[in-house]
Amino acid sequence: MTDVVAISAQVEAAVQAALTQVLPAELAGTDPVVRRSDRADFQANGVLAVAKKVGIPASVIAIDVARELRYAGWVTTCSGPGFLNLTVPDDVTWSTVAARLADTRLGVSSPHAGERVVVDYSAPNVAKEMHVGHLRSSVIGDALVRVLGHLGADVTRQNHIGDWGTQFGMLIQYLDEHPEASWKGQGADTMSALDALYKAARAEFEADAAFADRSRARVVALQSGDEATVEVWRDLVAESEKAFQVIYDRLGVLLDEGDFDGESRYNDALPGIVEALQAKGIASESDGAVVTFTDGVNNPEGDPVPLIVRKKDGGFGYAATDLATMRLRVEEYKADRILYVVDARQALHFTMVFDTARRAGWLPEPVHAEHVRFGTVLGKDGRPFKTRSGKTVRLADLLDDAESAVRAVLQDKQHDFTDEELDDVVRAAGTAAIKYADLSNTRTKDYVFDVDQMVATTGNTGVYLQYAHARVRSILRKAGETAGKVDTTVSAHAAEKNLALTLDAFDATLRDVATTLEPHRLCGYLYDVATAFTRFYDACPVLKADDDAVRANRLALCDLTGRTLATGLDLLGIAAPERM
Ligand code: ARG
Repeated sequence: MTDVVAISAQVEAAVQAALTQVLPAELAGTDPVVRRSDRADFQANGVLAVAKKVGIPASVIAIDVARELRYAGWVTTCSGPGFLNLTVPDDVTWSTVAARLADTRLGVSSPHAGERVVVDYSAPNVAKEMHVGHLRSSVIGDALVRVLGHLGADVTRQNHIGDWGTQFGMLIQYLDEHPEASWKGQGADTMSALDALYKAARAEFEADAAFADRSRARVVALQSGDEATVEVWRDLVAESEKAFQVIYDRLGVLLDEGDFDGESRYNDALPGIVEALQAKGIASESDGAVVTFTDGVNNPEGDPVPLIVRKKDGGFGYAATDLATMRLRVEEYKADRILYVVDARQALHFTMVFDTARRAGWLPEPVHAEHVRFGTVLGKDGRPFKTRSGKTVRLADLLDDAESAVRAVLQDKQHDFTDEELDDVVRAAGTAAIKYADLSNTRTKDYVFDVDQMVATTGNTGVYLQYAHARVRSILRKAGETAGKVDTTVSAHAAEKNLALTLDAFDATLRDVATTLEPHRLCGYLYDVATAFTRFYDACPVLKADDDAVRANRLALCDLTGRTLATGLDLLGIAAPERM
C-alpha cells in the first residue's frame, strides 16, 4: 500500500468538500470532474452538470464554490460557463513530492489486491516459427501481467501453445521415414529447422497418396496413445518449448516453462464439453458437425455463423479447447478476470466462445472474460508483415535488425563504453525499440513495422525513454548525494511544478492501464514525464542551483523522475540501463 495522497486526489477532495458546502444535500456526491489544465494547474467542471438540477446558472454556483475553495487555501478563479481553475499551493506540491520520494511504490496503490487474473498470451504453435503476431501477444500480454501484478492482482500466466492437431501425424511420419533429418537442439534455430521439415512433410503429403495414408494412420496412433508415436510428439513439444524460451529470455518476457498450458492438456476434457453442450441443448448437429450459435452473430448474408465444437470427422475444433480452458480457469484457478491476448481477427471466435461458455454455466456472471485484441503488424507496403520472399519474419531476425540499427545510432554518439558494456546497451536498446514500438501504438490498431523509426533517440520511442532515464541517473551520480530532504517552504518554479504534477499522475495512469488494458497509455505517460523533465532541466539548474534548499528539492524531482521512468519501463518489460 501507499500513504501518498496524490495532488489530484487532494484537489478532488477539496472541490468535493466545497460543492457539499454550496449544493443542496441531495447533490453532495456530485463528481467534481477534475482535470489537468493549461489555464491553471487543474480545472474542475463538475458544476456544469449540476447547475440544471439546481436551476441556477453554473457560473453563479461556481462563484460560491470558488469562495469556499479559497477559504480552504486553494487559489481559485472562475471562467467560461462555470469552470473552476485551481492553482496548487507550492507547499502542497512540495509535501507531496516529499511523501512520494519516501515511498518505494511512488504513490502507486494496490486497487487490484485480492483479484485473480488469468492471462492467456503468446501461444505460438509447436513445430512452427513464431511470427510477429506472437510477438504482439507476448509483449502486450507481458506488460498487462506486470501492471496488474504491480497493482496487487494475483496473476496466472497461461501460454496456450498449439501442441496438438492432425498435422503432427504428418510430421511424425515424415521424421520416421527420414531419420537423417536433423532438427534438434539448435536453440532458436530449432524452429527454423522444424519449419522446413514441416514444409517438406506437407509437400510429400500432397504429392504422395500413400504417405498421406500413413500420416493419417499416425494421427490415430497418436490419439490412441501409441508409445513410439507419443514419444516423438513429446520430443517435438519439448524442443519447441526450449526454442520459445530462448526467444522469451531474449525478449525479456516473464513466460517460463511453468506457464506452458498447451492445447493437448485439454484432450481428455473435450468429449465431455461436447456432451454437456448437447445435454444442455446449447449445441446442435449441423452437417455432421456439432455447433453452437450466438444471437446476433450472422454472416453478410444474414445467416447465423456456427461455432464448430466438434468437426464432421469427429475431431475437436479450437473452440472446444477454448471452452475447456475456460472451465479450468474458473473452477481451478478461481479467476475473477480472464484475458485472452489474441489477434483482433479472432474477435468472432471469442465472442462466440464467451457466449457459449456463459450459457453453459462455465463462465458464471461475476467472472469477466475479455478478448484483449490487437491489430496486425504491417510492412512498409501496408500489407501484413512478411519477408520479401513472402515468408514469416523470424523474431530473432527482427531483434538482430533492431540491434544493428541501434549500434549504428550509438556509434555516432560519444561514449566511453568498453566493448562489453556497449554490447549490453545495444541489447537493451534493441529489445526496447521493438517492444516499445509495439506497446506505444493503440493496441487495437494495425501498425507499420519500421526499424529506423523504432531506434530513433528522439520522439516517443523506447530508446529515447532509456536515454532520458540514463540522463537523470547521470545527474544524480554527479550530484554525489542522494535525494532525501525536501523543503516545503521553497517557492516552486512553473517547470518544477509541472514536473511534480506529471509525476503525480503515475498511480492514475497505471489504474487506467489496468482497466482499459491499453499499455500505450503508460507509454504516453512516460513520454510526458520525460518531456516535463527536459523542460524542467532546461529552466532549472540542479547541480548549479545557488541555494541548498532549492538544489535539494530539485534533486528530489530528479530522483523521482528516474525512479518513475525505471518503474514504468519495467512495467512495460523494458530495461532501464544506468548509462547509455
Ligand atoms: N495458437 C494460436 C495461434 O497461433 C493462438 C491461440 C490463442 N489463444 C487462445 N486461447 N485461443 O494462432
